Amino acid sequence: MVNRSSFGNDFVFGVSTSAFQTEGSHLADGKGLSIWDTFTAKKGKIKGNQDAKSATNFYKYFRQDLDYIDWMNCKNFRFSTAWSRLFPDGVGKINPKGLAFYDRLIDNCLEKGIDPWVTLYHWDLPHKLEQMGGWTNRDVLKWFEEYVYFTVNKYSDRVKNWMVLNEPTAFTGLGYFMGIHAPGKKGISNFLPSMHHAAMAQAAGGRIIKSINCKLNVGTTFSFSHVEAFSNKKWDEDARIKVDALLNRLYLEPLLGLGYPLNDLPGLRKVEKYMLQGDDQLLAHQFDFIGVQNYSREIVKHSFLTPIVNAKLVSAKKRKVPQTEMGWEVYPKSIYEVLMKLKSYKNIPPLVVTESGAAFKDKLSEEGRINDEKRVIFLKRSIQEIEKAKNDGVNLKGYFIWSLTDNFEWTEGYHPRFGLIYIDYNKQKRVPKDSAFWYKDFLEF
Ligand code: GAL
Repeated sequence: MVNRSSFGNDFVFGVSTSAFQTEGSHLADGKGLSIWDTFTAKKGKIKGNQDAKSATNFYKYFRQDLDYIDWMNCKNFRFSTAWSRLFPDGVGKINPKGLAFYDRLIDNCLEKGIDPWVTLYHWDLPHKLEQMGGWTNRDVLKWFEEYVYFTVNKYSDRVKNWMVLNEPTAFTGLGYFMGIHAPGKKGISNFLPSMHHAAMAQAAGGRIIKSINCKLNVGTTFSFSHVEAFSNKKWDEDARIKVDALLNRLYLEPLLGLGYPLNDLPGLRKVEKYMLQGDDQLLAHQFDFIGVQNYSREIVKHSFLTPIVNAKLVSAKKRKVPQTEMGWEVYPKSIYEVLMKLKSYKNIPPLVVTESGAAFKDKLSEEGRINDEKRVIFLKRSIQEIEKAKNDGVNLKGYFIWSLTDNFEWTEGYHPRFGLIYIDYNKQKRVPKDSAFWYKDFLEF
């Protein structure tokens, strides 16, 4: 049995969300469009053609959501600022009502004794910037730096914990290589410049925040997967090495001063075309913490047909193992494996698990209760795994559950529910699931 007190007083437990997935009110009070607003408006991109125009309407109901965080005895809340709510065109003109919203949100957190952890970029690039090439255009560095400087300067009197990017592998890979996330661009010629500019932006963002106030606690987040080979045959092991390099090392290693892992990913070597003199050094930055986001493990097999990695994933469905509503294997041990692997880097900063969770079928019973036992078991086991990692020497400072509430799960729409709090989208009603009651009890000490 894990318990809260064994983690010590300075270990933080929290809950996570992001702006696009929750805020709704997509054009309210002068907000500009983001690439996700325009992407979701296109037919066939999102399951059931759903959009996030209202999502959980966090923009309107955030006080209720903060009440739930407070009720759960939870003292840390990770959310993101929507760039196009602050700068409707991405640069230049500032939207005072957008500014006022985050003022209200931050002040309400602090009044309740909840520490805000703010992510500056959780995938919602202003649409106007995408029209100028988005992440493929090196000018994005200038645009991003202006936004980061302004936002941190404005709120850092009250917000001490900042994260620069959310999962660059995901937003560049899915959005600029596979074309299945916003902005829907495809191919290596879009991916390579986006990849390099995102890697440059994460380090630049870190430096800018520290230049505003060196006492701020600054990190950036990554998706990490525990990758295993399907067999011990050489070609499957080669596939594992490549997938691991792509999913886990691509953005982390340049940050740690090791450069891109191009020896294991020769198919990305042309990134050098986008690198200017001095970029090598600028890719490195010593963050105060690294945000670790993990949901499952991947089993991989050799495949001639897949470019760059020559590998394909062997799905949980194919392997006939228990899965979540995302089709991901239920495998809480992966967080332990990921943390131990990160520990093996010599100069790795302290770690914070900034997302961990699972989507299961949640049903509101007639008595108004949501019995989400599978999620409770998953979270308990994940916490056991992080405790074990801590005991095995990982410098781990915190753990955040994805997510506070059910929300808009990108291309999957509203179907997968990750929340501790259930959302009845028709009535915009909140109902705490059994997992919320469990987290409340766990955090009470
Ligand atoms: C992460 C992402 C979140 C959320 C979660 C569950 O990759 O940062 O926004 O969608 O996955 O799929």
